[in-house]
Formats: sequence, C-alpha cells, structure tokens
Amino acid sequence: MSWLHATSELTHPSFHSASRSAHVLKLAFLTVFVLVFFYFSSILFLDRVLVLGLAASHSQTAIQSGSREPQPGNPHPNPVDQNEGLPSSPTLTAENVPQYFQTTPELWAGPTATGRAPFLAQTNPVSFMPDATYVPNNPLETAAPIMGQNQNESIFHLMGNLSPYFPNAEGFGVAEYPLPEGANISQVQMLSRHGSRYPTTGSNVARLGAKIAAAKQAGTFKASGLYSFLNDWTYALGAEILVPRGRQELFESGILHYYQYAQLYNPNSKIIVRTTTQDRMLKSAEYFMAGFFGLEWTNNATIEVIIESPGFNNSLAGYYGCKNARLGVNRGGENASVEWMSTYLEDATTRFKSHIEGIEWTVFDTYAAQTMCPYETVAYGYSVFCNLFNYSEWESFGYSLDLTFAGSSAFQSPTGRAIGLGYLQETIARMENHTLGYSGSQINTTLDSSTETFPLNQTLYFDFSHDTNIMSILTAFGLTQFSQFLPATNFPGPHNLTVAHLEPFGARLDIEIIKTPSPLDKDRKYKKGKPATYVHFVLNQRTVPLGWSFDECGRDRLDGWCEFDTLLKALKKEVKKAKFDYACDGSYPAEEYGKITDGAPLD
Ligand SMILES: *[C@@H]1O[C@H](CO)[C@@H](O)[C@H](O)[C@H]1NC(C)=O
Ligand SMILES: *[C@@H]1O[C@H](CO)[C@@H](O)[C@H](O)[C@H]1NC(C)=O
Ligand SMILES: *[C@@H]1O[C@H](CO)[C@@H](O)[C@H](O)[C@H]1NC(C)=O
Ligand SMILES: *[C@@H]1O[C@H](CO)[C@@H](O)[C@H](O)[C@H]1NC(C)=O
Ligand SMILES: *[C@@H]1O[C@H](CO)[C@@H](O)[C@H](O)[C@H]1NC(C)=O
Ligand SMILES: *[C@@H]1O[C@H](CO)[C@@H](O)[C@H](O)[C@H]1NC(C)=O
Ligand SMILES: *[C@@H]1O[C@H](CO)[C@@H](O)[C@H](O)[C@H]1NC(C)=O
Ligand SMILES: *[C@@H]1O[C@H](CO)[C@@H](O)[C@H](O)[C@H]1NC(C)=O
Ligand SMILES: *[C@@H]1O[C@H](CO)[C@@H](O)[C@H](O)[C@H]1NC(C)=O
Ligand SMILES: *[C@@H]1O[C@H](CO)[C@@H](O)[C@H](O)[C@H]1NC(C)=O
Repeated sequence: MSWLHATSELTHPSFHSASRSAHVLKLAFLTVFVLVFFYFSSILFLDRVLVLGLAASHSQTAIQSGSREPQPGNPHPNPVDQNEGLPSSPTLTAENVPQYFQTTPELWAGPTATGRAPFLAQTNPVSFMPDATYVPNNPLETAAPIMGQNQNESIFHLMGNLSPYFPNAEGFGVAEYPLPEGANISQVQMLSRHGSRYPTTGSNVARLGAKIAAAKQAGTFKASGLYSFLNDWTYALGAEILVPRGRQELFESGILHYYQYAQLYNPNSKIIVRTTTQDRMLKSAEYFMAGFFGLEWTNNATIEVIIESPGFNNSLAGYYGCKNARLGVNRGGENASVEWMSTYLEDATTRFKSHIEGIEWTVFDTYAAQTMCPYETVAYGYSVFCNLFNYSEWESFGYSLDLTFAGSSAFQSPTGRAIGLGYLQETIARMENHTLGYSGSQINTTLDSSTETFPLNQTLYFDFSHDTNIMSILTAFGLTQFSQFLPATNFPGPHNLTVAHLEPFGARLDIEIIKTPSPLDKDRKYKKGKPATYVHFVLNQRTVPLGWSFDECGRDRLDGWCEFDTLLKALKKEVKKAKFDYACDGSYPAEEYGKITDGAPLD
C-alpha cells in the first residue's frame, strides 16, 4: 500500500514541487473516486449489454475473444472513450505533467473490474499422502494429476498466450553460450508483454458463466459425476487487469533484468520507459521497475504512457491504427482454430453432454470450459476445470491458439506485418540513432519526433506491449522461422510457432547489441580484423537464431547472432513488405486460411 501511495506522489517529482504534491494528491483521490463511481455504474450496465449482445451473436465469434487479447473487434466499453471531453478536463490533469507522463490519475485505463478473492488454503484439493513427494504451491497449485501427463511435463506449458511465464526448455533452434572473451554488451532493447490477467472484455469464459447461471435460474441445470462441482460453481473472475501472479511475473522479470544488465544503467541518469495507458500495461511497467530498481524506482525511470484507445496511434497497440485487422479478412486464424477445435474437442464435448442436463452444450462451451482453467488458475490459484481434460487435449488447446495467432497476427494474416510495422521502424530508428518525424505506420509521430519522448541516449530501453502485437512485431521484423503453415486438421507435432514459447504472460524479447574486439566467425572464434558489432535476439531467455530467417546473417551461426549492419540492412528491406496502407485500409477479399503466407495481403 505504502508503495502505491508513494508511486502516485513521486512518479514525476521533477514536474511539481513537494509542497504542491499533497494538494494534487488530494485532488487526484477525489477525482479517482468520482471517476470510479461513474465508471462502475456505467460499466455494469455496458457489460450486461455486451454479454447479451455477444450471447446472441453467431457462435463462430465465440472463440475470437476467448483467449486472445486485446480484441480489436470489440472496442472496450471504456466510458472515457465515449466522453472524449473527459480526459482533457483540467481537473483531471495533474498540474504541469504532460499527459504522456501522467500515470495518476490514470487516463484511458480501460475496464478494471476485480474478481473474487482467492482462498487457496481452503479450496486446494491436491493431496500429498505420506508416500507422495510434497510439491508446495508456488504460488499456483499446478501439481494436480492430469491423465496422460509425464513427470517432466506440465499442462501449464501448453496454454498458448494464457500460459503463465516460463522459458521453453527446447529453445528456438540453437544452444546458449557465454559471451566470448573481450566482448561487451553495449545496449539492450526490451519489449515485454504484460503479466497474467483476468479475461478480456466479452470473452468466451464470461459467456459460459452467464449461460450456466441462466440455466440455473431456469431451474433446469444439473451436473453429475466429475462435473457435479458445476452445481455450486459461479463465474466470478474480474476483467482485464493483472492478477497477483501477473504482478509477480513482471516484478521477477525486473529482477532478472537487473541481474542480467544492471551495469548498463548509469545511476545518475533517468531513463524513459514506454507502455500504454491501459491499467495492466501501466502496472506491468511499474512492477517491472520496482523489480529492477527497487521501490524508489521513480528516481531512476519515468514511465511514458502512450494512449491505447481507438483513434490513437500507438506502436505498442498497433491494431487500433489498422482497420482491416478488425474485419473478416483477418479472421483466418480464428476460422482455422474453430475448425481444429471441432475436431479435437469432439470426445470431450460428448463427455460434458452426458454429465450435464438443462443446457444446450456445444463444442464452444467445451472450449470455454477448457479456457476457464488457465484463467481461474492464475486468479484463484487452482481450477477444477483443468482436470476435465487430458494431456493430449491440452496439447491441442495450445495448438488452437497457435492457429489463431498464425492466421490473425502473424504470417498467415494479411495485417500480420502491418500491425507490427511501427515498432519495426522504431527499432531501426534506435539502431540508426535518430527520431522519427515521418509516418507511414501507426507510430505517434508527435511522440517519436522528440528525444524527450523518444530518447536516443539510453543503453537500456524498456517497452511494454500485448501478445498479439508482439507476435505482429516479430512478423514485421521478418522472422520467417515462425512462418510455416500450420494445418487446421491435425496436430503436426513440434513446430516453431508455439505461442506458449513466444508469448506467455510476461513474455520478453531482449535485443542485445554486442561489441567484439574483432569479427567473430560462425563457430564463435575470433578472426583477424577490426572491432565488430552484433545483434542477439533473446526471447524468453532463449536465443532466436537470426540466420534461420535471414540467410545473410548465416544460417549455421552457432550463436544465432547477426552482424549489426547486416541485420539493419535486412530489417530495412522488411518495412515495405508490410504494405501498410493497403493492408490496413485497402479493399481486398478474405483469403481462406493458409493462402496468405507472408503477413501481408496478396497482390
Ligand atoms: C485423451 O482424450 C482423447 C480424446 O479427446 C483420447 O483420444 C486419448 O486417448 C486420451 N488420452 C489419454 C491418455 O487418456
Ligand atoms: C517427457 O518425457 C517423455 C518420456 O521420456 C518424452 O517422450 C517427452 O517428450 C518429454 N516431454 C517433455 C515436454 O520434455
Ligand atoms: C536510482 O537513482 C538513485 C538516485 O539518483 C541512485 O542513488 C540509485 O543508485 C539508482 N538506483 C540504481 C539501482 O542504480
Ligand atoms: C538523456 O538525456 C536527458 C536530457 O539531457 C537526461 O535527463 C537523461 O538522464 C539522459 N539519459 C541517459 C541515460 O543518460
Ligand atoms: C500522439 O500522442 C500525443 C501525446 O499523448 C497525443 O496528444 C496525440 O493525440 C497522439 N496522436 C495520435 C494520432 O494518436
Ligand atoms: C472467417 O469466417 C467468417 C464467417 O464464416 C467469414 O466471414 C470470414 O470471411 C472468414 N475469414 C477468413 C479470412 O477466412
Ligand atoms: C497516425 O497514423 C496515421 C496512419 O495510420 C498517419 O497517417 C498519421 O500521420 C499518424 N499521426 C501521427 C500524429 O503520428
Ligand atoms: C545518439 O544520439 C544522441 C543524441 O541525439 C547521443 O547522445 C548519443 O551519444 C548517440 N549515440 C550514438 C551511439 O551515436
Ligand atoms: C523451424 O524453422 C526452421 C527455419 O525455417 C526450419 O528449418 C525447421 O524445420 C522448423 N522446425 C520445425 C519443427 O518445423
Ligand atoms: C569492453 O569493455 C572494456 C572495459 O571497458 C574495454 O576495455 C574494451 O575495449 C571493450 N571491448 C570492446 C570490444 O568494446
């Protein structure tokens, strides 16, 4: 508590004197109170309308919002969006703090409904009899037995973007090596996803909760056997904001990054870190900073909040600047996922149907029930829903999310590259050490043309974004390692685009710039020559081999690095492949999933 208070007071000490801050704080609390009051009265109403509206819509849309986030198709029912006048109202703005540095009171925070409190000590059913090795919950209870699961396996690594953070054990194709003698890391650019959260607004889990509640209201609902817990179960998750596990993921990521890179920080400087205005995005950045610098982090970093709302440009939330991303032309992934789900959940749907009366149970309900497991687990610590599916059904669940991402955010999506283009341009600008005054993408040129908001003198850059957006950024970079076609009809076995490995909650890409005294050959031996510079992509603590996507970087480089100028040249060639204007605003037909292979519309 004291930290949060300190944060609201100290976030930008340079902008207002200490004597004035008490007054500003009082004003802030009053405003927050009034806002929260109006917010909840309107959101309650809006949520109900939304649930009703969505329940009535075609069942195909049932999955879109299921697990992926954010959903460009369903603009958040944010009262601020509907009252454009509100944010600029002078009483809301902390004096002298430009909007893009204002973190309290929050503007454009999005929905922030909190859910039922956990009580794991009371609800944890997992038994460790004297003959079983006790595995304490840490903090989640993930030791419940799953049919078909080996000792070395966990279904929590098979949940696509809903997986709590974990580094993948197999890596992305190359091994990890220590830095060679004499080499120095001179800069790091991190792009992090936010931590574990409640479901996004209008998600399939909320709809299933409403459907079961309605059946109970009608007095017809009855579940038996393994499913009888449903007789007493109610849906009680919040929406959108971080759950405690999500705070932990970002705090720990900050600590990890401190151990990895602390010497790159000059203790006499103050760095700018960028996130969006959404509550979970801002708080993810704050927890990360607290992990990296400690609770007095406001001495060391200033958080820049880029507006995340329809109608605003934002490279960290690029879908808002891309109309077609929200339309049917970009539903290929969801369509493929529905096709796959109807196959792999046939058996499970039969099981549910035979144990549940008084409800018309569909395959979409089975999928929502499966999706309930990751959400309830991070919210409550444990979920009964997890045990209703066996290991191979969880493998298939993860695959359903791989299909969704492939077809709607990556190389099988017509807007895959376009959504991530702005961040690619920003990465190139940082590599070339210049600001961005031009457009041709969804960057906010007002922010990117000034070193106050797009600084160039840092050795550490920390940015925060969303899963689908980061997937599109990897696509815009041209990491074709993740472009292979994934069939909607069968599980192909191990494959590169495994969303749980790329975009779990708290995912992070660290782009390291490394200087060596002379060129380093593909076998990591120094050659004669001038000092050289390399780039190393580390995604969730594992190297992404750049040569697998760019031949010129060297397909067989052991360390997966790429020479700096070589990569810069390669990245610049990727920019126009996004066909930004046509991809986002052009008129082209919806291509069946699989026809698009390069993250841009066909010509
Ligand atoms: C898991 O369920 C599928 C049907 O969805 C079935 O084919 C498979 O045999 C089951 N595996 C185990 C280990 O029970
Ligand atoms: C776990 O071990 C089994 C049996 O040795 C193996 O087949 C499986 O691939 C392993 N799973 C993982 C995730 O490592
Ligand atoms: C943060 O800034 C303060 C004040 O300048 C400095 O004393 C402290 O060492 C910095 N923290 C870290 C972790 O470098
Ligand atoms: C970058 O320059 C600004 C403005 O001069 C300064 O406040 C900041 O501390 C500098 N950052 C670093 C990392 O040196
Ligand atoms: C760019 O950012 C500034 C500062 O947050 C904001 O005032 C402006 O509306 C943004 N422009 C667009 C097009 O998003
Ligand atoms: C996905 O399916 C919907 C509904 O059938 C359709 O309108 C849309 O065009 C399809 N999109 C793609 C890319 O296949
Ligand atoms: C916002 O993005 C559009 C392209 O979607 C661009 O035309 C416009 O110049 C951008 N505005 C700013 C302020 O960056
Ligand atoms: C990049 O430019 C900034 C000022 O715009 C300067 O402080 C910094 O030293 C430059 N960095 C490099 C690597 O040239
Ligand atoms: C992963 O991508 C690389 C490079 O495109 C390819 O050679 C390899 O076969 C892929 N691996 C799998 C398991 O598909
Ligand atoms: C690495 O840093 C050390 C110590 O600052 C310096 O002596 C050396 O020249 C640097 N090496 C390179 C390749 O920049």
